[in-house]
Amino acid sequence: TPRVFSGIQPSGGLTLGNYLGALKRFVEMQDAGTHECIYCMVDLHAITVWQNPDDLRRQTREAAAAFMAAGVDPARSILFNQSQVPAHAELAWIFNCVARMGWMGRMTQWKDKAGKNSENASLGLFAYPALMAADILAYHATHVPVGEDQKQHLELTRDIAAKFNHDYGVDFFPITEPVIEGPATRVMSLRDGTKKMSKSDPSDMSRINLSDDADTIAQKFRKARTDPEPLPASYAELKDRPEARNLVDIYAALSGRTTDDVMAEHGGAGWGQFKPALADVAVETLAPITGEMTRLLADPGEIDRILGNGAARAREIAAPILDRTHEIVGLIRSS
Ligand code: TYM
Repeated sequence: TPRVFSGIQPSGGLTLGNYLGALKRFVEMQDAGTHECIYCMVDLHAITVWQNPDDLRRQTREAAAAFMAAGVDPARSILFNQSQVPAHAELAWIFNCVARMGWMGRMTQWKDKAGKNSENASLGLFAYPALMAADILAYHATHVPVGEDQKQHLELTRDIAAKFNHDYGVDFFPITEPVIEGPATRVMSLRDGTKKMSKSDPSDMSRINLSDDADTIAQKFRKARTDPEPLPASYAELKDRPEARNLVDIYAALSGRTTDDVMAEHGGAGWGQFKPALADVAVETLAPITGEMTRLLADPGEIDRILGNGAARAREIAAPILDRTHEIVGLIRSS
């Protein structure tokens, strides 16, 4: 069976963007039953920028709870945190020696996050994509569901696999397929329709968090930035109205309907009508997830046990792949 791998950084609370662009898709791929699914809280990626240790622990458990509340079933999918499986860091080192500085320097995430002060960015932030390639390739995963913003990193994963195979004259690492599908591969900020919704945006009003209650969700949509025009009759007419289009996209993704359907129902509506309707579908979908997260988080020991079990299963899959990698590279492992 083909194998799916994907990850989320526990560097803050998860957002509606993470849910629609990733989590919801993870559950769909699991439920399709056609893939073996491995889902990971990438805590080693999170520490490429400073994380308070207590916050990191809490956010890792919260992310795990969000996965399960959204429908990831730890009996059917493998769910764990990255640092419990040393294969990720081990393979990342080898990939650090395969990848080129120039490749890393061209990553837009590196340029955005390091900014003008790259001298002061962590070395880990620069090497971030090599660890991501290791996450995927340590399991020979063939399919990686992600949002649009991860596309460039997944191209780099393919480049690393191809260069490894070429340099060592093997056909060992698969060339992974990104799976960037669905109506919400790029959910935008509620304050700026040209920026993606992000857990690291300084303004909490820019995003819906999975932990937000119904009143907060309604308030954030009410205050969401839009132009003053009502909704047009057709989706095509939203082309140059990024904020308006984003809200329609979110509505469609949350309600599981097409954007044409949404426009057929709400075309011509003013914001005073559409925003409360949007808040209603959002609350309808998110409230049960938030409630289940709270229930799960009441027993952090159980979450840690689940992550430990997932990690043990992940280690078993990765072990022979790592052994073979060492052999290919010429690194002695005495058994
Ligand atoms: P991260 O933690 O930033 O985001 C997790 C997932 O959520 C998606 N996403 C979005 N989708 C739609 N709209 C948005 N506004 C939005 N914001 C985030 C992301 O595309 C991602 O799928 N580098 C990765 C984590 C990672 C990973 C991996 C992913 C590490 N190793 C291996 C796949 C495979 C990241 O920072 O995602």
